[in-house]
Amino acid sequence: MNPLKSPRAAAAGAASPAPGVASGAGQHLTSGLGHVVRPDAIDVSHGPILYLEDVTVSFDGFRALNALSLSIDAGELRCMIGPNGAGKTTMMDVITGKTRAQSGKVFLGQTLDLRRLDEAAIARAGVGRKFQKPTVFEQHPVWENLELAMKSDKRWFAALRARLDAPAQARIEEVLETIRLEDAAYRLAGELSHGQKQRLEIGMLLMQQPQLLLLDEPAAGITDDETMELARLLNSLRGQCSMMVVEHDMDFVAALAGETGRVTVMAEGAVLAEGTLDQVKRDERVIESYLGR
Ligand SMILES: Nc1ncnc2c1ncn2[C@@H]1O[C@H](COP(=O)(O)OP(=O)(O)OP(=O)(O)O)[C@@H](O)[C@H]1O
Ligand SMILES: [Mg+2]
Repeated sequence: MNPLKSPRAAAAGAASPAPGVASGAGQHLTSGLGHVVRPDAIDVSHGPILYLEDVTVSFDGFRALNALSLSIDAGELRCMIGPNGAGKTTMMDVITGKTRAQSGKVFLGQTLDLRRLDEAAIARAGVGRKFQKPTVFEQHPVWENLELAMKSDKRWFAALRARLDAPAQARIEEVLETIRLEDAAYRLAGELSHGQKQRLEIGMLLMQQPQLLLLDEPAAGITDDETMELARLLNSLRGQCSMMVVEHDMDFVAALAGETGRVTVMAEGAVLAEGTLDQVKRDERVIESYLGR
């Protein structure tokens, strides 16, 4: 499915609400152009789903992010690479509201100023984040992990007692297929391999139907076969959501970026280079600071 064709993105693709127009939750606005605009939708009418400009984060005077600027187009799968300490995780912390930027702009689409939102509101706005270590409910079957991820009440007992309606069941089945864990649906999550747990956690994020998925080193510590399986999964999500993937494994990056995908190289808290994987691999500064000779 093309994100630009989905109901949410289609609404977001319409004109922005006029400045100063107040709206109640769930209400629809009719802009001067006659489009209906959902106030909570991400407005990607100008292309980017994520826009960072001159973002600076200092820890005791050390600039972990140093005037970082970058943007990601709606529907894009962007790979981010760069040496240890470049600020890649800090950047994700800023996008998700875990860390506050001291200055700069962080926007989701045209209109959502993420610096003004807290972590929960940013997640609700459609940003999902996967940390390096999988965080699944080990004592619960795979199916229940997906079920719990969908519920707003995170107390598992309350969540599991609430009845699942047919669309919710269908959604779980769809996600199980996407993450290729249909055969493991009733196995305890704790029994899965590391790679399968990574896929399950991505499935749990998908239950929330994120518009932008941030993944920090998802292939770290998994086997080569599982790494390629993970690349297949992320490639299959193209069109469903935009993605930003931080990774050191260059085979994985190659499998995601292909010949034409954009790859961003970060170093010292800023963008060092951007281009196709081939282009950045040939960039002297990238070779110097990251890839080595
Ligand atoms: N909470 C913090 N307090 C102090 N310094 C921090 C904090 N978080 C990150 N840093 C520093 O900021 C810099 C950037 O760290 P960050 O974790 O963002 O790098 P990274 O690009 O994700 O590296 P890696 O590839 O190793 O994961 C590092 O020098 C790190 O030590
Ligand atoms: Mg990191």
